[in-house]
Amino acid sequence: MKRVAVLASGGGSNLQAILNHLATRGTDAAASVVLVASDRRSAGALERASRAGIKAVALENPESGNGLMDLLQERSVDLVALAGFLRMVPAPVTTAWRGRMINVHPALLPSFGGRGMYGIRVHEAVLAHGAAVSGPTVHFVNQVYDTGPIIAQWPVRVLPDDTPATLAARVLQAEHFLYPRVLEAVASGAIALADDDTVHGSVFPEAQAHFQLSADPG
Ligand code: GRF
Repeated sequence: MKRVAVLASGGGSNLQAILNHLATRGTDAAASVVLVASDRRSAGALERASRAGIKAVALENPESGNGLMDLLQERSVDLVALAGFLRMVPAPVTTAWRGRMINVHPALLPSFGGRGMYGIRVHEAVLAHGAAVSGPTVHFVNQVYDTGPIIAQWPVRVLPDDTPATLAARVLQAEHFLYPRVLEAVASGAIALADDDTVHGSVFPEAQAHFQLSADPG
C-alpha cells in the first residue's frame, strides 16, 4: 500500500474524492492518504483531513525546500498528489519525487496552463478563446508549472450558455472521477514514468470505455 500526501490550498473537493474512492476499495486499496498539507491555515482541505483522522499540516514556508521535504520524508510518503496547490513545489522535492508526484489541472494541457492559470481564470480563458472542449488533465509534476508528462485527460463539452462558473463545476465533476483513478493506477504501478519522460501504461479500461462514449459526437 503506497503512502500518499495530498497538497492543497483550497476547499479540497479533490482530496475528498480521493478519500471516498479509496474507501470504496477497502483493504484492496493501492494507496492510503497519510498526510494533507497546505500553504493556507484556513484551507478546507485541512479540515477535511482532520475530520478523516489524517495528519493535517499548515506549511510554514511552502516554497522553501527543506520544510516540505522533511515532512514528506518523516511520513515516509511514496506518492504526492497536488490538488489545487497554488504554490511552486521546490525543485529538490519535485526531483526527489520524480514520477511519484502528480497534479490535476482543470483544462486540457498544454493549453490554458502555466503560471497564473488557476481557478476561474482557466475557465475564463477557455471561454474567451471559444474552445469547444475542455476537461481535466492529470500529469506528472516537474519543475515548470503544468508542463510535466500528461497521464490522462477527460473531455468536457463547452456549452453555448456556459459561464466560467458553470464550466468550472462540470470540469470539477470530471476531475473527481478521473483523479482518484489515476492516483490509484500510479500507486499500483499500472502507470509509470520512464527515464525518457514517456508515460508507460494506459488509463484504466473502465475509463477508456466511458471516454469513448462521452467523446462520441453522436
Ligand atoms: C481544481 O479545479 C484543480 O483542478 C485545481 O484546483 C482546483 C481544486 O479544487 N488545480 P479542490 O480544492 O480540490 O476543491
